Amino acid sequence: MTKNNKKSAEALRSARWFAPDDLRAFGHRSRAMQMGYAPEEWKGRPVIAILNTWSDAQPCHMHFKARVDDVRRGILMAGGFPMELPALSLSESFLKPTTMLYRNLLAMDAEELLRGHPVDGVVLMGGCDKTTPALLLGATSMNLPAIYLPAGPMLRGNWKGKTLGSGSDAWKYWDERRAGKISDKDWVDVEAGIARSYGTCMTMGTASTMTAIAESIGMTLPGASSIPAADAGHIRMSSECGRRIVEMVWEDLTPRKIQTRKAFENAIIVAMAMGCSTNAIIHLIAQARRAGADIGLDDFETASRKVPVIANVRPSGDKYLMEDFYYAGGLPGLMSRIRDHLHLDAMTVTGRTLGENIAGAEVHNDDVIRTVENPIYAEGALAVLKGNLAPDGCVIKPSACEPRFLKHTGQALVFDDYPSMKKAIDDPDLDVTADHVLILRNAGPQGGPGMPEWGMLPIPTRLVKQGVRDMVRLSDARMSGTSYGACILHVSPESYIGGPLALVRNGDKITLDVAARTISLDVPEAELKKRRAEWKQPETRFERGYGWMFTRHIKQANEGCDFDFLETEFGAPVGEPSIY
Ligand code: FES
Repeated sequence: MTKNNKKSAEALRSARWFAPDDLRAFGHRSRAMQMGYAPEEWKGRPVIAILNTWSDAQPCHMHFKARVDDVRRGILMAGGFPMELPALSLSESFLKPTTMLYRNLLAMDAEELLRGHPVDGVVLMGGCDKTTPALLLGATSMNLPAIYLPAGPMLRGNWKGKTLGSGSDAWKYWDERRAGKISDKDWVDVEAGIARSYGTCMTMGTASTMTAIAESIGMTLPGASSIPAADAGHIRMSSECGRRIVEMVWEDLTPRKIQTRKAFENAIIVAMAMGCSTNAIIHLIAQARRAGADIGLDDFETASRKVPVIANVRPSGDKYLMEDFYYAGGLPGLMSRIRDHLHLDAMTVTGRTLGENIAGAEVHNDDVIRTVENPIYAEGALAVLKGNLAPDGCVIKPSACEPRFLKHTGQALVFDDYPSMKKAIDDPDLDVTADHVLILRNAGPQGGPGMPEWGMLPIPTRLVKQGVRDMVRLSDARMSGTSYGACILHVSPESYIGGPLALVRNGDKITLDVAARTISLDVPEAELKKRRAEWKQPETRFERGYGWMFTRHIKQANEGCDFDFLETEFGAPVGEPSIY
Protein backbone atom coordinates (compact mmCIF):
# COMPACT_ATOMS: atom_id res chain seq x y z
CA MET A 1 0.00 0.00 0.00
CA THR A 2 1.11 3.57 -0.62
CA LYS A 3 0.79 6.51 1.76
CA ASN A 4 -2.73 7.37 0.61
CA ASN A 5 -3.78 3.77 1.19
CA LYS A 6 -3.89 2.96 -2.50
CA LYS A 7 -2.23 -0.17 -3.73
CA SER A 8 1.03 0.43 -5.63
CA ALA A 9 1.51 -0.79 -9.19
CA GLU A 10 4.27 -3.15 -7.98
CA ALA A 11 1.81 -4.75 -5.56
CA LEU A 12 -0.69 -5.67 -8.29
CA ARG A 13 -1.27 -9.40 -8.51
CA SER A 14 -0.83 -9.28 -12.30
CA ALA A 15 2.68 -7.91 -11.82
CA ARG A 16 3.74 -11.45 -10.88
CA TRP A 17 3.05 -12.41 -14.50
CA PHE A 18 4.24 -9.28 -16.29
CA ALA A 19 6.94 -7.51 -14.27
CA PRO A 20 9.83 -9.95 -13.53
CA ASP A 21 12.98 -9.96 -15.64
CA ASP A 22 12.85 -13.70 -16.29
CA LEU A 23 12.05 -16.12 -19.07
CA ARG A 24 8.48 -16.87 -17.96
CA ALA A 25 7.51 -13.18 -17.77
CA PHE A 26 9.15 -12.71 -21.16
CA GLY A 27 6.65 -15.27 -22.46
CA HIS A 28 3.68 -13.47 -20.90
CA ARG A 29 4.75 -10.11 -22.31
CA SER A 30 5.57 -11.49 -25.70
CA ARG A 31 2.20 -13.27 -25.95
CA ALA A 32 0.37 -10.07 -24.94
CA MET A 33 2.24 -8.34 -27.77
CA GLN A 34 1.20 -11.21 -30.05
CA MET A 35 -2.39 -10.06 -29.40
CA GLY A 36 -1.42 -6.58 -30.51
CA TYR A 37 -1.00 -4.88 -27.13
CA ALA A 38 1.91 -2.52 -26.50
CA PRO A 39 3.55 -2.69 -23.02
CA GLU A 40 2.13 0.77 -22.28
CA GLU A 41 -1.34 -0.79 -22.35
CA TRP A 42 -0.74 -3.15 -19.41
CA LYS A 43 2.34 -1.94 -17.58
CA GLY A 44 1.43 -0.66 -14.13
CA ARG A 45 -2.28 -1.02 -14.85
CA PRO A 46 -4.77 -3.30 -13.08
CA VAL A 47 -5.77 -6.23 -15.27
CA ILE A 48 -9.53 -6.61 -15.01
CA ALA A 49 -11.16 -9.92 -15.85
CA ILE A 50 -14.62 -9.75 -17.35
CA LEU A 51 -16.33 -13.05 -16.65
CA ASN A 52 -18.91 -13.15 -19.41
CA THR A 53 -21.70 -15.73 -19.30
CA TRP A 54 -22.86 -14.98 -22.83
CA SER A 55 -23.66 -17.96 -25.04
CA ASP A 56 -25.77 -18.85 -28.08
CA ALA A 57 -27.94 -20.92 -25.74
CA GLN A 58 -28.59 -18.06 -23.32
CA PRO A 59 -31.45 -15.75 -24.38
CA CYS A 60 -31.31 -13.82 -21.10
CA HIS A 61 -27.71 -12.75 -21.80
CA MET A 62 -27.94 -12.07 -25.56
CA HIS A 63 -26.94 -8.46 -25.02
CA PHE A 64 -23.77 -9.41 -23.15
CA LYS A 65 -22.05 -9.79 -26.50
CA ALA A 66 -22.39 -6.00 -26.85
CA ARG A 67 -22.33 -5.04 -23.17
CA VAL A 68 -18.90 -6.52 -22.70
CA ASP A 69 -17.59 -3.74 -24.92
CA ASP A 70 -19.25 -1.16 -22.69
CA VAL A 71 -17.54 -2.71 -19.68
CA ARG A 72 -14.22 -2.62 -21.56
CA ARG A 73 -14.78 1.05 -22.39
CA GLY A 74 -15.16 1.83 -18.69
CA ILE A 75 -12.09 -0.18 -17.72
CA LEU A 76 -9.91 1.51 -20.33
CA MET A 77 -11.23 4.93 -19.39
CA ALA A 78 -10.21 4.36 -15.78
CA GLY A 79 -6.73 3.15 -16.71
CA GLY A 80 -7.23 -0.60 -16.46
CA PHE A 81 -6.49 -3.43 -18.88
CA PRO A 82 -9.58 -5.56 -19.73
CA MET A 83 -9.39 -9.31 -20.25
CA GLU A 84 -12.63 -11.06 -21.19
CA LEU A 85 -12.85 -14.63 -19.93
CA PRO A 86 -15.91 -16.61 -21.11
CA ALA A 87 -17.56 -18.64 -18.37
CA LEU A 88 -20.19 -21.39 -18.32
CA SER A 89 -23.51 -19.82 -19.24
CA LEU A 90 -26.17 -21.88 -17.33
CA SER A 91 -29.18 -21.10 -19.43
CA GLU A 92 -32.30 -21.70 -17.35
CA SER A 93 -34.26 -22.22 -20.55
CA PHE A 94 -32.16 -24.84 -22.28
CA LEU A 95 -29.77 -26.57 -19.90
CA LYS A 96 -30.99 -29.96 -18.68
CA PRO A 97 -31.76 -31.69 -16.44
CA THR A 98 -31.57 -28.52 -14.37
CA THR A 99 -29.16 -25.61 -14.05
CA MET A 100 -28.94 -26.29 -10.34
CA LEU A 101 -26.91 -29.39 -11.15
CA TYR A 102 -24.28 -27.00 -12.52
CA ARG A 103 -24.39 -23.98 -10.20
CA ASN A 104 -21.38 -25.23 -8.32
CA LEU A 105 -19.57 -26.07 -11.56
CA LEU A 106 -19.85 -22.41 -12.64
CA ALA A 107 -18.76 -21.37 -9.16
CA MET A 108 -15.65 -23.51 -9.58
CA ASP A 109 -15.18 -22.22 -13.13
CA ALA A 110 -15.29 -18.62 -11.88
CA GLU A 111 -12.95 -19.22 -8.95
CA GLU A 112 -10.35 -21.10 -10.98
CA LEU A 113 -10.52 -18.72 -13.97
CA LEU A 114 -9.63 -15.92 -11.59
CA ARG A 115 -6.97 -17.88 -9.75
CA GLY A 116 -5.16 -19.10 -12.84
CA HIS A 117 -5.07 -15.85 -14.83
CA PRO A 118 -3.07 -12.65 -14.32
CA VAL A 119 -5.99 -10.58 -13.02
CA ASP A 120 -6.37 -8.04 -10.23
CA GLY A 121 -10.12 -7.57 -10.17
CA VAL A 122 -13.23 -8.77 -11.94
CA VAL A 123 -16.54 -7.67 -13.42
CA LEU A 124 -19.01 -10.54 -13.15
CA MET A 125 -21.60 -10.56 -15.94
CA GLY A 126 -24.60 -12.69 -15.06
CA GLY A 127 -28.30 -12.58 -14.34
CA CYS A 128 -30.12 -15.74 -15.42
CA ASP A 129 -31.06 -17.58 -12.23
CA LYS A 130 -28.00 -19.60 -11.18
CA THR A 131 -25.41 -17.39 -12.81
CA THR A 132 -25.72 -14.77 -10.06
CA PRO A 133 -25.10 -17.03 -7.07
CA ALA A 134 -22.55 -19.11 -8.96
CA LEU A 135 -20.40 -16.15 -10.02
CA LEU A 136 -20.62 -14.63 -6.57
CA LEU A 137 -19.73 -17.93 -4.89
CA GLY A 138 -16.61 -18.24 -7.00
CA ALA A 139 -15.61 -14.58 -6.61
CA THR A 140 -16.20 -14.77 -2.86
CA SER A 141 -13.87 -17.71 -2.49
CA MET A 142 -11.19 -16.11 -4.69
CA ASN A 143 -11.67 -12.77 -2.92
CA LEU A 144 -10.26 -10.42 -5.56
CA PRO A 145 -12.04 -7.05 -5.88
CA ALA A 146 -15.27 -7.87 -7.74
CA ILE A 147 -18.33 -6.05 -8.98
CA TYR A 148 -21.50 -7.70 -10.23
CA LEU A 149 -23.19 -6.57 -13.44
CA PRO A 150 -26.79 -7.86 -13.58
CA ALA A 151 -28.20 -8.61 -17.05
CA GLY A 152 -31.37 -6.69 -16.19
CA PRO A 153 -34.96 -7.82 -16.66
CA MET A 154 -36.51 -8.11 -20.12
CA LEU A 155 -39.41 -5.90 -21.23
CA ARG A 156 -42.99 -6.72 -20.19
CA GLY A 157 -44.61 -9.47 -22.24
CA ASN A 158 -47.63 -8.64 -24.34
CA TRP A 159 -50.54 -10.59 -25.82
CA LYS A 160 -53.57 -8.88 -27.33
CA GLY A 161 -52.78 -5.82 -25.24
CA LYS A 162 -52.58 -7.86 -22.01
CA THR A 163 -49.36 -7.84 -20.03
CA LEU A 164 -47.64 -11.21 -19.81
CA GLY A 165 -45.21 -12.17 -17.03
CA SER A 166 -42.34 -14.66 -17.47
CA GLY A 167 -43.15 -18.11 -16.15
CA SER A 168 -46.25 -17.07 -14.22
CA ASP A 169 -48.37 -16.55 -17.32
CA ALA A 170 -46.96 -19.64 -18.97
CA TRP A 171 -48.34 -21.75 -16.10
CA LYS A 172 -51.57 -19.73 -16.03
CA TYR A 173 -52.37 -20.02 -19.74
CA TRP A 174 -51.27 -23.66 -19.84
CA ASP A 175 -54.01 -24.39 -17.28
CA GLU A 176 -56.48 -22.34 -19.36
CA ARG A 177 -55.53 -24.35 -22.41
CA ARG A 178 -55.95 -27.65 -20.52
CA ALA A 179 -59.34 -26.43 -19.36
CA GLY A 180 -60.21 -25.74 -23.03
CA LYS A 181 -60.59 -21.99 -22.43
CA ILE A 182 -58.07 -20.70 -24.99
CA SER A 183 -57.40 -21.88 -28.54
CA ASP A 184 -54.24 -23.40 -30.01
CA LYS A 185 -53.74 -20.15 -31.94
CA ASP A 186 -53.96 -18.15 -28.70
CA TRP A 187 -51.40 -20.45 -27.14
CA VAL A 188 -48.93 -19.86 -29.99
CA ASP A 189 -49.47 -16.10 -29.71
CA VAL A 190 -48.76 -16.24 -25.98
CA GLU A 191 -45.58 -18.18 -26.82
CA ALA A 192 -44.46 -15.38 -29.15
CA GLY A 193 -45.38 -12.51 -26.84
CA ILE A 194 -44.15 -13.65 -23.44
CA ALA A 195 -40.42 -12.96 -24.00
CA ARG A 196 -40.08 -9.84 -26.16
CA SER A 197 -36.51 -8.71 -25.55
CA TYR A 198 -33.18 -9.81 -24.19
CA GLY A 199 -32.84 -9.82 -20.42
CA THR A 200 -33.87 -11.99 -17.52
CA CYS A 201 -37.37 -13.03 -16.48
CA MET A 202 -39.28 -9.87 -15.57
CA THR A 203 -41.44 -11.29 -12.81
CA MET A 204 -40.02 -11.47 -9.29
CA GLY A 205 -38.51 -14.84 -10.15
CA THR A 206 -35.17 -16.19 -9.08
CA ALA A 207 -33.25 -13.93 -11.47
CA SER A 208 -34.74 -10.68 -10.15
CA THR A 209 -34.53 -12.00 -6.60
CA MET A 210 -30.86 -12.92 -6.84
CA THR A 211 -29.76 -9.73 -8.57
CA ALA A 212 -31.63 -7.70 -5.93
CA ILE A 213 -29.83 -9.77 -3.32
CA ALA A 214 -26.47 -9.06 -4.99
CA GLU A 215 -27.29 -5.36 -4.80
CA SER A 216 -28.47 -5.43 -1.19
CA ILE A 217 -25.34 -7.32 -0.15
CA GLY A 218 -23.43 -4.44 -1.68
CA MET A 219 -21.92 -6.22 -4.69
CA THR A 220 -23.51 -4.06 -7.44
CA LEU A 221 -23.67 -0.37 -8.16
CA PRO A 222 -26.75 1.30 -6.61
CA GLY A 223 -29.89 0.59 -8.62
CA ALA A 224 -28.09 -1.79 -11.01
CA SER A 225 -30.38 -4.76 -10.41
CA SER A 226 -33.57 -2.97 -11.45
CA ILE A 227 -32.53 -1.40 -14.77
CA PRO A 228 -34.27 -3.16 -17.68
CA ALA A 229 -31.80 -4.87 -20.01
CA ALA A 230 -32.99 -2.88 -23.02
CA ASP A 231 -32.76 0.53 -21.29
CA ALA A 232 -29.87 2.80 -22.29
CA GLY A 233 -29.24 3.19 -18.58
CA HIS A 234 -28.09 -0.42 -18.61
CA ILE A 235 -25.35 0.43 -21.10
CA ARG A 236 -24.19 3.34 -18.96
CA MET A 237 -24.24 1.16 -15.86
CA SER A 238 -22.10 -1.45 -17.65
CA SER A 239 -19.47 1.15 -18.46
CA GLU A 240 -19.61 2.45 -14.90
CA CYS A 241 -18.92 -1.06 -13.60
CA GLY A 242 -15.74 -1.00 -15.71
CA ARG A 243 -14.66 2.34 -14.32
CA ARG A 244 -15.44 1.47 -10.73
CA ILE A 245 -13.68 -1.92 -10.63
CA VAL A 246 -10.36 -0.27 -11.51
CA GLU A 247 -10.72 1.99 -8.50
CA MET A 248 -11.71 -0.96 -6.34
CA VAL A 249 -8.45 -2.69 -7.21
CA TRP A 250 -6.41 0.33 -6.10
CA GLU A 251 -8.50 0.48 -2.92
CA ASP A 252 -8.18 -3.30 -2.41
CA LEU A 253 -11.93 -3.45 -1.74
CA THR A 254 -12.51 -7.20 -1.73
CA PRO A 255 -15.74 -9.24 -1.40
CA ARG A 256 -14.87 -10.32 2.14
CA LYS A 257 -14.78 -6.66 3.23
CA ILE A 258 -18.28 -6.21 1.80
CA GLN A 259 -19.96 -9.54 2.45
CA THR A 260 -20.21 -9.48 6.23
CA ARG A 261 -22.94 -11.02 8.31
CA LYS A 262 -24.66 -7.62 8.37
CA ALA A 263 -24.66 -7.56 4.56
CA PHE A 264 -26.35 -10.97 4.43
CA GLU A 265 -28.91 -9.88 7.01
CA ASN A 266 -29.69 -6.91 4.77
CA ALA A 267 -30.12 -9.25 1.82
CA ILE A 268 -32.56 -11.45 3.72
CA ILE A 269 -34.64 -8.44 4.78
CA VAL A 270 -34.72 -7.13 1.21
CA ALA A 271 -35.60 -10.58 -0.16
CA MET A 272 -38.57 -10.79 2.19
CA ALA A 273 -39.82 -7.34 1.23
CA MET A 274 -39.39 -8.10 -2.47
CA GLY A 275 -41.63 -11.20 -2.39
CA CYS A 276 -38.58 -13.21 -3.30
CA SER A 277 -38.17 -16.59 -4.93
CA THR A 278 -37.86 -19.57 -2.60
CA ASN A 279 -34.52 -20.29 -4.27
CA ALA A 280 -33.06 -17.28 -2.46
CA ILE A 281 -32.72 -19.35 0.69
CA ILE A 282 -30.48 -21.99 -0.84
CA HIS A 283 -28.19 -19.56 -2.64
CA LEU A 284 -27.87 -17.09 0.22
CA ILE A 285 -26.94 -19.78 2.72
CA ALA A 286 -24.26 -21.09 0.37
CA GLN A 287 -22.88 -17.63 -0.34
CA ALA A 288 -22.83 -16.58 3.29
CA ARG A 289 -20.93 -19.71 4.23
CA ARG A 290 -18.33 -19.00 1.56
CA ALA A 291 -17.93 -15.53 3.01
CA GLY A 292 -17.52 -16.94 6.51
CA ALA A 293 -20.92 -15.78 7.80
CA ASP A 294 -23.06 -18.44 9.40
CA ILE A 295 -26.53 -17.85 7.97
CA GLY A 296 -29.26 -20.49 8.29
CA LEU A 297 -32.99 -21.09 7.93
CA ASP A 298 -33.64 -19.46 11.31
CA ASP A 299 -32.36 -16.11 9.97
CA PHE A 300 -34.98 -16.25 7.21
CA GLU A 301 -37.64 -17.18 9.72
CA THR A 302 -36.76 -14.20 11.95
CA ALA A 303 -36.80 -11.77 9.00
CA SER A 304 -40.05 -13.16 7.69
CA ARG A 305 -41.79 -12.27 10.97
CA LYS A 306 -40.43 -8.70 10.82
CA VAL A 307 -40.76 -7.43 7.27
CA PRO A 308 -43.86 -7.43 5.05
CA VAL A 309 -43.88 -7.88 1.28
CA ILE A 310 -44.04 -4.37 -0.19
CA ALA A 311 -42.97 -4.96 -3.81
CA ASN A 312 -46.21 -5.40 -5.72
CA VAL A 313 -44.54 -7.46 -8.42
CA ARG A 314 -45.89 -10.76 -9.71
CA PRO A 315 -46.15 -13.56 -8.66
CA SER A 316 -46.61 -12.31 -5.08
CA GLY A 317 -48.24 -9.15 -6.40
CA ASP A 318 -51.05 -9.41 -8.91
CA LYS A 319 -50.29 -6.71 -11.42
CA TYR A 320 -46.84 -5.26 -11.93
CA LEU A 321 -43.53 -6.46 -13.35
CA MET A 322 -39.87 -5.47 -12.98
CA GLU A 323 -40.14 -2.70 -15.56
CA ASP A 324 -42.82 -1.05 -13.40
CA PHE A 325 -40.65 -1.62 -10.35
CA TYR A 326 -37.78 0.24 -12.01
CA TYR A 327 -39.98 3.22 -12.93
CA ALA A 328 -41.31 3.26 -9.36
CA GLY A 329 -37.83 3.78 -7.92
CA GLY A 330 -36.28 0.32 -8.15
CA LEU A 331 -34.39 -1.35 -5.37
CA PRO A 332 -33.01 1.87 -3.84
CA GLY A 333 -36.63 3.06 -3.53
CA LEU A 334 -37.69 -0.18 -1.89
CA MET A 335 -34.73 -0.12 0.50
CA SER A 336 -35.58 3.43 1.50
CA ARG A 337 -38.98 2.14 2.67
CA ILE A 338 -37.46 -0.52 4.95
CA ARG A 339 -34.37 1.40 6.00
CA ASP A 340 -35.19 0.95 9.69
CA HIS A 341 -34.62 -2.79 9.25
CA LEU A 342 -31.32 -2.46 7.39
CA HIS A 343 -27.73 -2.15 8.60
CA LEU A 344 -27.03 1.15 6.88
CA ASP A 345 -23.35 1.08 7.81
CA ALA A 346 -22.67 -2.00 5.62
CA MET A 347 -19.92 -1.36 3.03
CA THR A 348 -20.63 -1.68 -0.71
CA VAL A 349 -18.68 -1.76 -3.98
CA THR A 350 -19.03 2.01 -4.29
CA GLY A 351 -16.68 2.39 -1.33
CA ARG A 352 -19.58 3.99 0.51
CA THR A 353 -22.10 2.49 2.88
CA LEU A 354 -25.52 1.20 1.97
CA GLY A 355 -27.03 4.11 3.88
CA GLU A 356 -25.01 6.59 1.81
CA ASN A 357 -26.01 4.82 -1.41
CA ILE A 358 -29.73 5.04 -0.72
CA ALA A 359 -29.76 8.52 0.80
CA GLY A 360 -32.13 10.49 -1.42
CA ALA A 361 -33.74 7.38 -2.95
CA GLU A 362 -37.42 7.90 -3.62
CA VAL A 363 -40.52 5.92 -4.50
CA HIS A 364 -42.54 7.31 -7.41
CA ASN A 365 -45.50 4.94 -7.31
CA ASP A 366 -46.97 3.82 -3.99
CA ASP A 367 -48.95 1.03 -5.56
CA VAL A 368 -45.89 -0.68 -7.07
CA ILE A 369 -43.64 -0.17 -4.05
CA ARG A 370 -45.99 -0.10 -1.11
CA THR A 371 -45.37 1.38 2.31
CA VAL A 372 -44.85 -1.04 5.21
CA GLU A 373 -48.20 0.16 6.56
CA ASN A 374 -49.93 -0.91 3.34
CA PRO A 375 -48.13 -4.09 2.24
CA ILE A 376 -49.34 -6.70 -0.21
CA TYR A 377 -48.68 -9.39 2.40
CA ALA A 378 -48.36 -8.74 6.11
CA GLU A 379 -45.29 -10.93 6.67
CA GLY A 380 -42.17 -11.68 4.66
CA ALA A 381 -42.42 -13.66 1.44
CA LEU A 382 -41.20 -16.99 2.74
CA ALA A 383 -41.97 -19.16 5.74
CA VAL A 384 -39.86 -22.03 7.04
CA LEU A 385 -41.84 -25.00 8.33
CA LYS A 386 -40.53 -27.83 10.48
CA GLY A 387 -41.95 -31.08 11.82
CA ASN A 388 -41.61 -34.86 11.63
CA LEU A 389 -41.95 -34.70 7.85
CA ALA A 390 -39.14 -32.15 7.48
CA PRO A 391 -36.86 -32.27 10.54
CA ASP A 392 -34.34 -29.95 8.82
CA GLY A 393 -37.02 -27.69 7.43
CA CYS A 394 -38.96 -26.93 4.28
CA VAL A 395 -40.16 -23.73 2.67
CA ILE A 396 -43.44 -22.21 1.49
CA LYS A 397 -44.18 -18.87 -0.15
CA PRO A 398 -47.43 -17.93 1.58
CA SER A 399 -47.62 -14.60 -0.23
CA ALA A 400 -48.21 -16.45 -3.51
CA CYS A 401 -50.79 -19.07 -2.51
CA GLU A 402 -54.51 -19.23 -1.73
CA PRO A 403 -54.93 -18.21 1.93
CA ARG A 404 -57.20 -21.20 2.70
CA PHE A 405 -54.21 -23.52 2.38
CA LEU A 406 -52.18 -21.79 5.07
CA LYS A 407 -53.83 -24.14 7.56
CA HIS A 408 -54.77 -27.43 5.99
CA THR A 409 -55.05 -31.17 6.49
CA GLY A 410 -55.25 -33.44 3.49
CA GLN A 411 -54.63 -36.96 2.29
CA ALA A 412 -51.37 -37.71 0.54
CA LEU A 413 -51.28 -38.72 -3.11
CA VAL A 414 -47.69 -39.80 -3.67
CA PHE A 415 -45.56 -40.02 -6.81
CA ASP A 416 -42.05 -41.48 -6.75
CA ASP A 417 -40.84 -39.78 -9.90
CA TYR A 418 -41.80 -37.11 -12.41
CA PRO A 419 -42.79 -39.39 -15.34
CA SER A 420 -45.34 -41.34 -13.28
CA MET A 421 -46.72 -38.08 -11.86
CA LYS A 422 -46.98 -36.54 -15.33
CA LYS A 423 -48.85 -39.56 -16.65
CA ALA A 424 -51.28 -39.72 -13.74
CA ILE A 425 -52.07 -36.02 -13.75
CA ASP A 426 -53.93 -36.27 -17.08
CA ASP A 427 -55.86 -39.41 -16.08
CA PRO A 428 -59.56 -38.47 -16.10
CA ASP A 429 -60.23 -41.17 -13.47
CA LEU A 430 -57.49 -40.10 -11.05
CA ASP A 431 -58.88 -40.41 -7.52
CA VAL A 432 -58.08 -36.92 -6.28
CA THR A 433 -59.85 -33.92 -4.76
CA ALA A 434 -58.77 -30.31 -4.32
CA ASP A 435 -58.05 -31.10 -0.65
CA HIS A 436 -55.47 -33.79 -1.38
CA VAL A 437 -51.78 -33.12 -0.83
CA LEU A 438 -49.89 -33.99 -4.01
CA ILE A 439 -46.42 -35.33 -3.25
CA LEU A 440 -43.43 -35.73 -5.53
CA ARG A 441 -40.34 -37.34 -4.08
CA ASN A 442 -36.82 -38.26 -5.23
CA ALA A 443 -36.51 -34.71 -6.58
CA GLY A 444 -33.98 -33.27 -4.10
CA PRO A 445 -30.28 -32.42 -4.50
CA GLN A 446 -29.27 -36.07 -4.99
CA GLY A 447 -32.60 -37.51 -6.04
CA GLY A 448 -33.45 -35.12 -8.90
CA PRO A 449 -30.54 -35.07 -9.39
CA GLY A 450 -29.76 -31.40 -8.88
CA MET A 451 -33.06 -30.48 -7.22
CA PRO A 452 -35.00 -29.51 -10.36
CA GLU A 453 -37.79 -26.92 -10.37
CA TRP A 454 -40.55 -29.53 -10.26
CA GLY A 455 -42.12 -28.34 -7.01
CA MET A 456 -45.09 -26.59 -8.62
CA LEU A 457 -46.72 -29.91 -9.51
CA PRO A 458 -49.45 -29.46 -12.12
CA ILE A 459 -53.02 -29.53 -10.85
CA PRO A 460 -54.68 -32.73 -12.11
CA THR A 461 -56.50 -32.01 -15.38
CA ARG A 462 -59.74 -33.33 -13.94
CA LEU A 463 -59.64 -30.67 -11.22
CA VAL A 464 -58.49 -27.93 -13.60
CA LYS A 465 -61.66 -28.56 -15.63
CA GLN A 466 -63.66 -28.09 -12.42
CA GLY A 467 -62.04 -24.69 -11.94
CA VAL A 468 -59.42 -25.67 -9.33
CA ARG A 469 -56.29 -23.52 -9.68
CA ASP A 470 -54.42 -24.18 -6.43
CA MET A 471 -53.88 -27.09 -4.05
CA VAL A 472 -51.22 -28.19 -1.59
CA ARG A 473 -48.18 -29.72 -3.22
CA LEU A 474 -45.19 -31.09 -1.35
CA SER A 475 -41.74 -32.13 -2.52
CA ASP A 476 -38.01 -32.06 -1.94
CA ALA A 477 -37.66 -30.21 -5.26
CA ARG A 478 -37.33 -26.46 -5.81
CA MET A 479 -39.74 -24.38 -7.83
CA SER A 480 -39.21 -21.55 -10.25
CA GLY A 481 -39.39 -18.13 -8.64
CA THR A 482 -42.02 -17.28 -11.22
CA SER A 483 -44.26 -20.07 -9.95
CA TYR A 484 -47.05 -19.69 -7.44
CA GLY A 485 -49.44 -21.74 -5.36
CA ALA A 486 -49.45 -23.70 -2.11
CA CYS A 487 -46.20 -25.49 -2.86
CA ILE A 488 -44.08 -26.77 0.01
CA LEU A 489 -40.53 -27.21 -1.17
CA HIS A 490 -36.96 -28.16 -0.21
CA VAL A 491 -38.11 -30.83 2.28
CA SER A 492 -34.94 -31.74 4.15
CA PRO A 493 -33.47 -34.24 4.44
CA GLU A 494 -34.56 -35.35 0.99
CA SER A 495 -36.41 -38.61 0.32
CA TYR A 496 -33.69 -40.10 -1.90
CA ILE A 497 -31.36 -40.42 1.08
CA GLY A 498 -34.14 -41.69 3.37
CA GLY A 499 -35.67 -38.48 4.75
CA PRO A 500 -39.16 -38.95 6.25
CA LEU A 501 -40.77 -37.93 2.93
CA ALA A 502 -39.65 -41.35 1.67
CA LEU A 503 -42.01 -43.01 4.17
CA VAL A 504 -45.28 -41.33 3.17
CA ARG A 505 -47.96 -43.54 1.60
CA ASN A 506 -51.15 -42.75 -0.30
CA GLY A 507 -53.95 -41.80 2.07
CA ASP A 508 -51.69 -40.69 4.96
CA LYS A 509 -52.84 -37.45 6.55
CA ILE A 510 -50.57 -34.42 6.34
CA THR A 511 -51.18 -31.24 8.31
CA LEU A 512 -49.62 -27.87 7.71
CA ASP A 513 -50.01 -24.73 9.77
CA VAL A 514 -48.09 -21.80 8.34
CA ALA A 515 -48.85 -19.48 11.27
CA ALA A 516 -47.37 -22.05 13.65
CA ARG A 517 -44.63 -22.89 11.10
CA THR A 518 -45.31 -26.62 11.39
CA ILE A 519 -45.80 -29.55 9.07
CA SER A 520 -46.59 -33.06 10.22
CA LEU A 521 -47.16 -36.51 8.88
CA ASP A 522 -50.01 -37.82 11.04
CA VAL A 523 -48.83 -41.44 11.22
CA PRO A 524 -47.89 -43.21 14.48
CA GLU A 525 -44.16 -43.47 15.19
CA ALA A 526 -44.28 -47.29 15.39
CA GLU A 527 -45.70 -47.46 11.86
CA LEU A 528 -43.04 -45.07 10.57
CA LYS A 529 -40.35 -47.23 12.16
CA LYS A 530 -41.72 -50.27 10.37
CA ARG A 531 -41.78 -48.43 7.04
CA ARG A 532 -38.23 -47.23 7.57
CA ALA A 533 -37.03 -50.81 8.06
CA GLU A 534 -38.67 -51.74 4.74
CA TRP A 535 -37.33 -48.70 2.80
CA LYS A 536 -34.77 -49.29 0.07
CA GLN A 537 -32.61 -46.53 -1.38
CA PRO A 538 -33.33 -45.89 -5.08
CA GLU A 539 -30.63 -46.88 -7.52
CA THR A 540 -27.48 -44.80 -7.91
CA ARG A 541 -27.83 -41.90 -10.32
CA PHE A 542 -24.28 -41.66 -11.72
CA GLU A 543 -21.44 -44.16 -12.14
CA ARG A 544 -18.91 -41.68 -13.54
CA GLY A 545 -18.19 -38.08 -14.49
CA TYR A 546 -19.32 -34.79 -12.97
CA GLY A 547 -22.56 -36.35 -11.71
CA TRP A 548 -20.57 -38.92 -9.75
CA MET A 549 -18.66 -36.15 -8.03
CA PHE A 550 -21.87 -34.15 -7.54
CA THR A 551 -23.72 -36.90 -5.69
CA ARG A 552 -20.80 -37.54 -3.38
CA HIS A 553 -20.29 -33.94 -2.33
CA ILE A 554 -23.57 -32.03 -2.63
CA LYS A 555 -25.04 -30.80 0.65
CA GLN A 556 -28.72 -30.66 1.52
CA ALA A 557 -31.03 -27.72 0.74
CA ASN A 558 -31.01 -26.33 4.28
CA GLU A 559 -27.21 -26.13 4.02
CA GLY A 560 -27.17 -24.29 0.69
CA CYS A 561 -26.41 -27.18 -1.72
CA ASP A 562 -22.72 -26.30 -1.92
CA PHE A 563 -20.12 -28.99 -2.43
CA ASP A 564 -18.61 -29.82 0.94
CA PHE A 565 -15.07 -29.33 -0.41
CA LEU A 566 -15.86 -25.82 -1.66
CA GLU A 567 -17.01 -24.53 1.70
CA THR A 568 -14.56 -22.15 3.31
CA GLU A 569 -14.13 -24.24 6.44
CA PHE A 570 -13.25 -27.39 4.47
CA GLY A 571 -9.50 -26.91 4.52
CA ALA A 572 -6.63 -24.45 4.39
CA PRO A 573 -7.03 -21.60 1.86
CA VAL A 574 -5.74 -22.31 -1.64
CA GLY A 575 -2.59 -20.35 -2.41
CA GLU A 576 -1.64 -18.37 -5.48
CA PRO A 577 -0.46 -20.43 -8.46
CA SER A 578 3.26 -21.01 -8.87
CA ILE A 579 4.86 -19.26 -11.83
CA TYR A 580 8.01 -21.01 -12.98
FE1 FES B 1 -33.10 -16.68 -17.61
FE2 FES B 1 -35.57 -16.71 -16.33
S1 FES B 1 -34.81 -17.98 -17.96
S2 FES B 1 -33.83 -15.49 -15.98
